[in-house]
Amino acid sequence: MTINFKDYVADVPNFPTEGVTFRDISPLMADGEAYHAATMEIVKYAKDLGVDMVCCPEARGFLVGCPVADELGVGFAPARKAGKLPRETVSVSYDLEYGQDTLYMHKDAIKPGQKVLVADDLMATGGTVRATIDLVEKLGGIVVGTAFLIELKELNGRDKIKDYDMFTLMDY
Ligand code: PRP
Ligand code: ADE
Repeated sequence: MTINFKDYVADVPNFPTEGVTFRDISPLMADGEAYHAATMEIVKYAKDLGVDMVCCPEARGFLVGCPVADELGVGFAPARKAGKLPRETVSVSYDLEYGQDTLYMHKDAIKPGQKVLVADDLMATGGTVRATIDLVEKLGGIVVGTAFLIELKELNGRDKIKDYDMFTLMDY
């Protein structure tokens, strides 16, 4: 059966602020068959990249990256917001549409030379994925690909990661 993945994304107008259409992936996660199929599309993309680790930003990124890592039979490295990681970290600050945020990873989350797939549920401005890539590279990892369920094309996030291979399941 062919799955139309957009049937499992709820489009919510004016959330979290006026003028933004929130692309809610909860219905996809709620359907075991669709969730697995989406996971396997990313696994298919990543299979030939020689991935050693999957790295994702919290929180929705984990929903995508953990099952992908499990299917690939590789480890998972979380990038987290402030105050979450208990051991020594590296950090990268990045711009949001309004203001700034910082992501952190444990210093030993990636070993130098490891090939890393960076994944997330959605790319909007690209700031989050760019910061995650920068963290992986600070630790000596090699980003061999990036993967998203959703790309919001009009925000041109792709421009921030021009040098990296990219897979997206759905475009808006
Ligand atoms: C969302 C989404 C991406 C990011 C994309 O995460 O899951 O990580 O925004 O936006 P960008 O391309 O403009 O950086 P959010 O920060 O809302 O956190 P959450 O996953 O914890 O909900
Ligand atoms: N993260 C940033 N922009 C988003 C959007 N429009 N829908 C869901 N998550 C987002």
